[in-house]
Amino acid sequence: MATYKIKVNGKVHQVDVEPDTPILWVLRDNLDLVGTKFGCGIALCGACTVHLNGNAARSCSLPISAVGEQEIVTIEGLSEKAEHAVQQAWLEHDVPQCGYCQAGQIMSAASLLSQNPNPTDQDIDDAMNGNICRCGTYVRIKAAIKTAASKMS
Ligand code: FES
Ligand code: FES
Repeated sequence: MATYKIKVNGKVHQVDVEPDTPILWVLRDNLDLVGTKFGCGIALCGACTVHLNGNAARSCSLPISAVGEQEIVTIEGLSEKAEHAVQQAWLEHDVPQCGYCQAGQIMSAASLLSQNPNPTDQDIDDAMNGNICRCGTYVRIKAAIKTAASKMS
């Protein structure tokens, strides 16, 4: 066990965990931030996506010992009342089906648009192709990203 201070959604938290504990489990088990989901556990599905200094990161494969002072943002911290343009576009397009993958999808989309406010179809495909949706909501996801981009521009 070791003691770590991590910054999540603007607040500093202190946790006592093993150094190889994935941030996903620190978020869910220690901080009770359960919006971030476990899917594959091996960085292949995107369900666990959070932002690390603004970049999309797979929290299932990120040990707490590698985080340091980098800032983590989860779906709970993306906006206070789901008013982020991506969340609004998700509502407008009624994107989710079962919903399990959607926090990860939204975090990847928000990261993409923060870095590339006017993405091409190929840019969207490239940014989102690591986020799997078993319900096949891909068409609505892409439409919602385009709507969010136009709202943000
Ligand atoms: S649970 Fe992290 S990528 Fe699948
Ligand atoms: S909405 Fe069900 S897995 Fe994506």
